[in-house]
Amino acid sequence: AGSAAGSAPSAVPAADAPAVAPEVTVLFGSQTGNSQGLAKKVTKKLEERGCQVTIASMKDFKPNNLKKVHNLLIIVSTHGDGEPPDNAVTFYEFLHSKRAPQLEELRYSVLALGDTSYEFFCQTGKDFDKRLEDLGGKRLVSRADCDVDFEETAGEWMNQVVNALSQASAAPATATAVANAVTGGTESEYSRSNPFQAEVLDNLNLNGRGSDRETRHIEISLEGSNLQYEPGDSLGVYPENHPRLVDKLIETMGWKADEPVPVNKNGDQRPLREALLRHYEITVLTKPLLEQAAKLTSSKKLQELLEAGREQDLKSYIHDRDLLDLVQEFALKGASAAEFVAILRKLPARLYSISSSPKATPNEVHLTVRAVRYEAHGRERYGVCSVHLAERTESGTALPVFIQHNPNFKLPASADAPIIMIGPGTGVAPFRAFLAEREETGAEGKSWLFFGDQHFSTDFLYQTEWQRWLKDGVLTRMDVAFSRDTDKKVYVQHRMMEKSREFYQWLQEGAYVYICGDEKKMAHDVHAALAAILEQEGGMSAAQAAEYLSRMQQDNRYQRDVY
Ligand code: 2AM
Repeated sequence: AGSAAGSAPSAVPAADAPAVAPEVTVLFGSQTGNSQGLAKKVTKKLEERGCQVTIASMKDFKPNNLKKVHNLLIIVSTHGDGEPPDNAVTFYEFLHSKRAPQLEELRYSVLALGDTSYEFFCQTGKDFDKRLEDLGGKRLVSRADCDVDFEETAGEWMNQVVNALSQASAAPATATAVANAVTGGTESEYSRSNPFQAEVLDNLNLNGRGSDRETRHIEISLEGSNLQYEPGDSLGVYPENHPRLVDKLIETMGWKADEPVPVNKNGDQRPLREALLRHYEITVLTKPLLEQAAKLTSSKKLQELLEAGREQDLKSYIHDRDLLDLVQEFALKGASAAEFVAILRKLPARLYSISSSPKATPNEVHLTVRAVRYEAHGRERYGVCSVHLAERTESGTALPVFIQHNPNFKLPASADAPIIMIGPGTGVAPFRAFLAEREETGAEGKSWLFFGDQHFSTDFLYQTEWQRWLKDGVLTRMDVAFSRDTDKKVYVQHRMMEKSREFYQWLQEGAYVYICGDEKKMAHDVHAALAAILEQEGGMSAAQAAEYLSRMQQDNRYQRDVY
């Protein structure tokens, strides 16, 4: 029920209105830090126009203060199957509960972050938008929904919001603009929209011969970029599509590889093959893409798949299929290359949790990346970025990268605080960074690592490093679960349960708990194990355990980097 775009004018104060700087509250919630980055950006723009801005994470915002807010901006991403990100959950639940106040005085707008390849695209943002309306709020400007490549849409939303909020007569940045924003260090000129061409220094397979897995350890130079990061942050990488897929697509469509096609809205052109390798997404299908593609074919089959009521068919069709499947199955031959690329989305960057500490290895960033390869619908399928990194990124290659700060996954401020790290598979990446950092800074706090993978002999990632850290006391304890060495599967959460008493003891001592890795299964099961430990060892009821974990989350003592 979003109002039409351009509904803002009624909210703009008249030019002769008294020059009172509007007060604006900006609330953000996301798993990765994107929404915080955007919140800071809009805050800065509003302050420049004389607004008084309060910026906060949804996690830290006292819901009772909502009644006092007149202008509210919400910037929120959506997680998994349309759920709010961890740090938005409490606020989301409060707002959707009976305790939520009526908000007739409120003017608001929502910027929703999401991914069109998911069924519940921008669902959390849509929920906030609808709920605030139901509570009596009035939209300042209508909600904007961003795809993975969010910058342009977000920029347009910000301009509309700033216009709606800042008085026509506002003086340029006055001393009244109270800077509540968290300020970063010296900024690098490189960012998501202007990636640094980094040199790959090393690229090796961490798995032993005979493993089902291929996990690459990749060392990348940040020399000369002025890019700064901390353990827990991620590296954004712009990949290239698989050349075989690109060539097959060009051949199937009967296009010419060197035909120039536009690669952006400025009208810049590149040869088709390069455009399909570097600029456009051709591996992941989305509903908006299928809707556009339906207009390029006379076949009714595609149109039928998009009809209301067939969401499940659409979802299962899209899953594990790419552009080549699409053009082959829906008679899209005949479309020109130019009209075709016009409907594709930009190839977005992929994010990887960094596995190094800048203190231990200055000017370098390390990644731990598992190559995604599997067979589906009669063809070998490849993860775009992971296979690009595994197969076509030997040392010496230039790789476009940027740092994605993640304020939601950070070592405790206190060097003495105990930490428990749960990271099976490549989920162990940030914990290598944590321990390297703690070794370098001489932190005294205890640490406990839970790691798991398929086989001890071939899949024990960074085995010798953990052993050295154990010996040197940087790592206090380590428990491993190799799931396919025994008849029955053993996972990290089984190891946690076996050590439940000590685990609970650590929690009592104020340990921070970190989970990194697969969200759908692992993180969910590990969460259940945490609750089980609290019930079993702490004598809590299920409700008390849930409350305890939510308090830990609130206090930053329970942090997740899951995907
Ligand atoms: P599996 O592949 O043998 O099932 C890293 O991928 C490790 O996580 C593997 O050992 C994998 O086991 C394991 N894993 C799979 N599902 C899991 C779950 N639900 N909880 C914890 N670990 C899981």
